[in-house]
Amino acid sequence: MNTYDLIMKKRNGGVLNKDEIAYIVDGFTKGSIPDYQMSALLMAIYFKGMNAEETTNLTMSMADSGDRLDLSAIKGRKVDKHSTGGVGDKTSLIVGPILASLGVPVAKMSGRGLGHTGGTIDKLEAIPGFSTSISEEAFINQVNTVGLSIVGQTANLAPADKKIYALRDVTATVDNISLIAASIMSKKLAAGADAIVLDVKVGTGAFMKDIEGARALAETMVSIGKLAGRDVTAVITDMNEPLGNNIGNMLEVAEAVDCLKGNGEARLMEVSKVLACHMLIKAGKADNEKESLEMVNRVIDDGSAFAKMKEFVSAQGGDATCLDDYSALCKTDYSYTVTGKDLFEATSFDSTIGYLKTCDNQEVGMASLELGGGRRTKEDVIDLAVGIILNKHLGDEISADDTVATLYANDEGKLKAATKRFINAYSVSDKKCDKNPIVYEVI
Ligand code: URA
Repeated sequence: MNTYDLIMKKRNGGVLNKDEIAYIVDGFTKGSIPDYQMSALLMAIYFKGMNAEETTNLTMSMADSGDRLDLSAIKGRKVDKHSTGGVGDKTSLIVGPILASLGVPVAKMSGRGLGHTGGTIDKLEAIPGFSTSISEEAFINQVNTVGLSIVGQTANLAPADKKIYALRDVTATVDNISLIAASIMSKKLAAGADAIVLDVKVGTGAFMKDIEGARALAETMVSIGKLAGRDVTAVITDMNEPLGNNIGNMLEVAEAVDCLKGNGEARLMEVSKVLACHMLIKAGKADNEKESLEMVNRVIDDGSAFAKMKEFVSAQGGDATCLDDYSALCKTDYSYTVTGKDLFEATSFDSTIGYLKTCDNQEVGMASLELGGGRRTKEDVIDLAVGIILNKHLGDEISADDTVATLYANDEGKLKAATKRFINAYSVSDKKCDKNPIVYEVI
């Protein structure tokens, strides 16, 4: 086989067979296929696409490029969740303790934030002492004793994806449905769960900007899962504005705590509960949504989900007392309160009352990054305390002196730049605006 011929075949619209895809993935992972040839092939795939069989073969080859986690020592049916990424998405921190407190083992490998999106591992590392890299044995033991462990992805889990993603990131080939589906599903299949609930985000803060794209991605991932013998459901949820009120690592841990205590923002609570309900059904703990919702509400109301969060944090070396009082960990030197007046001025809005109409959510994520809460490159060091607290959401009425949001930083220059970016991300209307649905479809 010859890489040049395979690039040409795809460039001309041909279909790569299983052996050809395996040759490429194996060769690139081991270094015998250079970056420039893989880049050309990725661009050919970007323009010519891959059919369902090619996408599945690509996923399987990537999943087999490293270790597959063996979760057989964990008792019970293992259900994983994965979000395609967004701004303010802290649902794993809410759903994990809920499920564990209901007896569903959660053995989760999560990622770090990159660009405008956050990552669960960074959020957990905002808790003093919390370790996200424990041995595989300790991980499995913790799931058996506590019911929940969340760790960073091990280096040898789908290493092909790490190399391919790094190349896609710098060759403008990220936003292709086959490549995204193969990237996500290869890691999920290698991570070993019996069933997977996917949270496919759609909107201005997501990879998929429209519902058609989100649906196609969801359907592709569900069908790959089925072909691989896994039980997969995808829930398409809104990312046209941040999820919940808080953006930023410790601020998101704090908001997850509020949710587990039953005081969460409505849209965040809804997404978290929908995901938890689907996971409970997949785990065989509930027969239908009504029953699963009663179970979820019960463990929030009686405090057992929050108690499980503390147990999980302690088990991984974290200081669980900071979940009772997180104020010191969210303290920053500078803050700026964005008012309705700021938005009115920026948009030349000529009225005393308006409605939040649109949000360029990617820009809100970038404002949080600008504050120091995210990274542009994998090597950037992040400030875990900084972030944004929203007081208003799309569709809300605002007057000039209303607080829309507060931005927190430890550097005045960063605060200024981020505030400008945040304010410019919104538009205001003089007419009432509908709120977006939070859950669009279940596939
Ligand atoms: N998340 C991933 O893990 N891979 C992609 O390609 C996109 C989002």
